Amino acid sequence: MMKVLVSDNLDKTGIRMIEEEEGIEADVNTGLSPEDLKQIIGNYEALIIRSATKVTDEILQQAKRLKVIGRAGIGLDNVDIPAATKRGIVVMNTPGGNIVTTAEHTIAMMMALTRNIPQGTVSLKAGRWDKKKLQGREIFNKTLGIIGYGKIGSIVADLARGLKMNVIIYDPYITAEQIEKAGFEGTTLNELYRRSDYITVHVPKLKSTTGLLNKKAFEKMKEGVMVINCARGGIIDENDLYDAIVSEKVAGAALDVFETEPPGRFPLFELDKVICTPHLGASTYEAQTNVSREVADQIIEYLKNGTIINAVNVPSVAGELLKRLGPYLSLADRIGSLQAQLFCGALKEVAIECNGDFHGLDMSLATTAVLKGLLAPIVKDDVNSVNAPVLAKERGIKVTETTRLEAEDYINLITVKVIATETSFSVSGTIFGKSAPRIVKINNFRLEMIPDGHLALIYKTNRPEAVGRIGTTLGMHDIGITQMQVGQDDDGENSIIYLRTDSSIPEKILDELRSLPSVNTVIPLEI
Ligand code: NAD
Ligand code: MLT
Repeated sequence: MMKVLVSDNLDKTGIRMIEEEEGIEADVNTGLSPEDLKQIIGNYEALIIRSATKVTDEILQQAKRLKVIGRAGIGLDNVDIPAATKRGIVVMNTPGGNIVTTAEHTIAMMMALTRNIPQGTVSLKAGRWDKKKLQGREIFNKTLGIIGYGKIGSIVADLARGLKMNVIIYDPYITAEQIEKAGFEGTTLNELYRRSDYITVHVPKLKSTTGLLNKKAFEKMKEGVMVINCARGGIIDENDLYDAIVSEKVAGAALDVFETEPPGRFPLFELDKVICTPHLGASTYEAQTNVSREVADQIIEYLKNGTIINAVNVPSVAGELLKRLGPYLSLADRIGSLQAQLFCGALKEVAIECNGDFHGLDMSLATTAVLKGLLAPIVKDDVNSVNAPVLAKERGIKVTETTRLEAEDYINLITVKVIATETSFSVSGTIFGKSAPRIVKINNFRLEMIPDGHLALIYKTNRPEAVGRIGTTLGMHDIGITQMQVGQDDDGENSIIYLRTDSSIPEKILDELRSLPSVNTVIPLEI
């Protein structure tokens, strides 16, 4: 039975889905202290969180069975992703489930801010009639500056256009053409500060975006600008915002998120011109049902079928695509595994070439599969398709990948060259028919090896009796040969024999083979 821990509040739709799944069970245990989480995390294959649970390296050290972390929502600043990646744990989020809801909240906050709705509610309930004091502003024809034109920023832009606002956008990672094609104006950050009546941020919290709206930025803004943060606390510097409001440079701020959550009592709350919500951006029935269903679906798919959806630390491969890519990934993994048994010394370089027709599939995953096969017998840590590239990098191995549409002799060919301090091997493989993997070349030796089971490569001189002697030696020990091929290496001085046997060849018999007069080298291979 695989176990899923749900450690934050999750809509029950997803919990029900997990419970209905055979072989998987869910434990809902919210409000755990880090210490409590550390004690129990070792029992679980999967963890589902929202923003409250902090998944630190320290907690992951105890997560010996954990395969996947699913975030019901978008932001992953509460997960140590590099630590998870290193341990081979897939980290997923549900990027689409709450974007409309959050964009709508942004517009709601802007409206509430500009028309003093929260202040009106509070004063009226307190028995006052502050009609004059709470006069607001129209947003019609005003300029809204959007920083970050991603999933949420682009919906906000669209909604604001419907409100007849003049929308300008700053996002250095989106081309000006993309923004123009959507009918908006892209601009520089300074220009956005200079022209906007309202500024809303929709960027992830990164080193580069922390404190993005700070004292210097406020200085560049229009007198009386209003700012909105429904992204992450700290993207607007809270101290600098306080000063900018007190100095009346900024006419108001709407905050859904805070550097520390919950923020408790803090200076910004003393200002009438600050309105706020307790991280309600994604809190609608629709969004919570969406993210709960999506995260449950993704976790079930991964635990049961290995299908990766919406992972942030490994490329996503959905079921159908995985089926089509599967044979190539399996071939790449086996080539990696063969290479792991061939090279001597320390690994320096791995070059992966995918040549020919792969039916338009993105073959970048083949690199990960090769590295996984190659590193599996070498590294102590468990290696999988999540952490293989990281482990290779940590070991200083230079990895390159190239693709070409043409392949000589074969429809498709994956070639992996591995350079180590003492050896250099090139192994090529192809898929016969729909899914049969074959190794077709090892250095210059052409062969047709089924990369499965007990195999051996024997380098021998060109003396004709060698093949017979090898067969006799194995036969004497009851080891049957199920496939054999003889070829020549480049200079024609030596022959290479590829053998497939019905059982593995014990070390003692390998030594016997090695001592035959015409045999130079015997390399056993197990795939
Ligand atoms: P996204 O990844 O789709 O978009 C982010 C955009 O920011 C990208 O287009 C990126 O190019 C841009 N960007 C990155 N660095 C930038 C920079 N320095 N300047 C300008 N643009 C930059 O993300 P999203 O789904 O739109 O989410 C945006 C934010 O909203 C995230 O921080 C997320 O955590 C937060 N969020 C909050 C709530 C909430 O409840 N308040 C709900 C959902 C998401
Ligand atoms: C998110 O990043 O998705 C939001 O912060 C929403 C949430 O989970 O509360």
